[in-house]
Amino acid sequence: MSGFSAPHCGSLRASDEGRELELYGWVARRRDHGGLIFIDLRDRWGAIQVVFNPAHAPQAHTNASDLRSEYVVRVEGKVARRRPGAENPRMPTGEVEVVASDLEVISVAKTPPFAIEDDVEADEATRLKYRYLDIRRPKLTHNLELRHRVVQAIHRYMDAHEFMEVETPMLLKGTPEGSRDFIVPSRLHPGEFFALPQSPQQLKQLLMVAGIGRYYQIARCLRDEDLRADRVVEITQLDVEMAFCTEEDVFELIEGLWAKVWKDVLGIDIPTPFRRIDMRESLLKYGTDKPDLRFDLEIADVSDALRETGATVLRGALDAGGVVRCFAVPGGKDMSRRELDDLAVLARGAGAKGLAWAPGPLDRHLSEGEMAAIKSAAGAGADDIVLLVADRRRKAETVMGLLRREIARRRKLVRHGEWNFLWVYPMYLFEEDDLGNLTYGHHPFTSPWPEDMALLAERPYDVRARAYDCVLNGVEISGGSIRIHDRELQERVFGILGMDEERIGTQFGHLLDAFEYGVPPHGGIAAGIDRLMMAIVETDNIRDVVAFPKTQSHQDLMLGAPSSVDPKQLEELHIQVIPPEKPS
Ligand code: AMO
Repeated sequence: MSGFSAPHCGSLRASDEGRELELYGWVARRRDHGGLIFIDLRDRWGAIQVVFNPAHAPQAHTNASDLRSEYVVRVEGKVARRRPGAENPRMPTGEVEVVASDLEVISVAKTPPFAIEDDVEADEATRLKYRYLDIRRPKLTHNLELRHRVVQAIHRYMDAHEFMEVETPMLLKGTPEGSRDFIVPSRLHPGEFFALPQSPQQLKQLLMVAGIGRYYQIARCLRDEDLRADRVVEITQLDVEMAFCTEEDVFELIEGLWAKVWKDVLGIDIPTPFRRIDMRESLLKYGTDKPDLRFDLEIADVSDALRETGATVLRGALDAGGVVRCFAVPGGKDMSRRELDDLAVLARGAGAKGLAWAPGPLDRHLSEGEMAAIKSAAGAGADDIVLLVADRRRKAETVMGLLRREIARRRKLVRHGEWNFLWVYPMYLFEEDDLGNLTYGHHPFTSPWPEDMALLAERPYDVRARAYDCVLNGVEISGGSIRIHDRELQERVFGILGMDEERIGTQFGHLLDAFEYGVPPHGGIAAGIDRLMMAIVETDNIRDVVAFPKTQSHQDLMLGAPSSVDPKQLEELHIQVIPPEKPS
């Protein structure tokens, strides 16, 4: 057997006509045409039709009648053009076929739990349990291949720009990236734990102190967070850090990188530089900090025009310190009451008190001037309808953002095929968490804008951060910042975040100490490869671009993980399991 040098099934073309060869692959399909037997033989590169003719190769033909789907075989034969009319334009190999002279069954196969075809909709749990069969489907194979090519293009680009790949440890002390750590017990230090990296953030900063200057790594990051359609537990990041740099250097590097990846992998020229948008402007105009600009539907604030309005639902929210936001749905006058009520349900589901529209039931409470102001702010024409939400600012933004996406989806306003990259910059140093407490926007190592330093104590929420996110088609594909490189400032920021001296010392002493041994100003970014691939293959399901993903509930259905361990292992680790209480 010498399959390594054999040609690939999926690579054969008309130019191979007359070639005698040996092929290895899986039987994708078998058709018995009374006399002739045809199979499609599949490998990673695609599929080719093989024909067994009893007159030409009787033994091979006899063997072929026993073939079943997914048998692994070796075929010897000769490439021939298909007869006119028998070509298959849907297969890249469709102009030719292999006329078999010999067939060897290498391995038989049970009937798979689902057909190995792209358009088969087997339930996801079954596909995950038999992931090795799922990956045989051409679409998944193709997604993994594209992912490989993207990562190779990244390596070439980073190397060409003199970035050095440095591996960082998996067993760390916790890094605050905003999620829960996965922890690993230490056998040699009973009662002590490592944390798996949420990102190599502090290590890459320490590499800058170490003088590496330009670092990158295709790094695995582990975050124990609730999964959504665009989240994985094991994130793959392109992690980057450089010394003596500004935001502009990072933008130029990353814009060049995406341009190179798109050119190398997809053959597409993407225009640079990317558009930039202030985070607050993004929240106002698009209701999100990761706007999808493949459709318009710009949101406007009409609070000022409605301060005195007689429409009590709007007035109530304004009097309580809230806002009124709106946008026009082009041609939306044709929307039925039912469609609008549906949207109101959606808005309420996202926490809004309700949804108003104009023209609509609200009209008689609005003055002519107010109506004109709404229409003009939303840019509404005669055939349009304006959707309005009145609420606390953050709530109104979230709901408007959701409605904007929903309208674009329902009314097919998304310009598919467009690559809409942008930078969200500047961002803000602090945010309010769900409990109303102050927390960091990006992470606590992010530098404030020097001109906003005076606001740090009094108006922390207004301090801009030297932080940026790169967004593609509504997906946050990367984020980073210029870092604090001054011990005192870093201690101050930790302090504002509510950490006492002792905690700062035990958690971050190593970084602060390092800053006393000659530290270059530095900054960087990390790009989520999984998210990037989602945008490239246009899927909403992150599991379509990961070979062996976990389920929403953090399980590997194929391996059966997580699982309990041998009590002896626990004993060695001095760990005792307290079973969770059963809900009564
Ligand atoms: P951040 O946490 O923003 O930054 O992560 C960077 C990028 O990683 C991707 N990402 C994810 N992808 C899939 N599933 C997840 N759960 C997930 N979480 C993040 C996103 C995101 O933009 N150390 C900093 C970077 C820096 O400051 O240099 C960091 O990790 O695409």
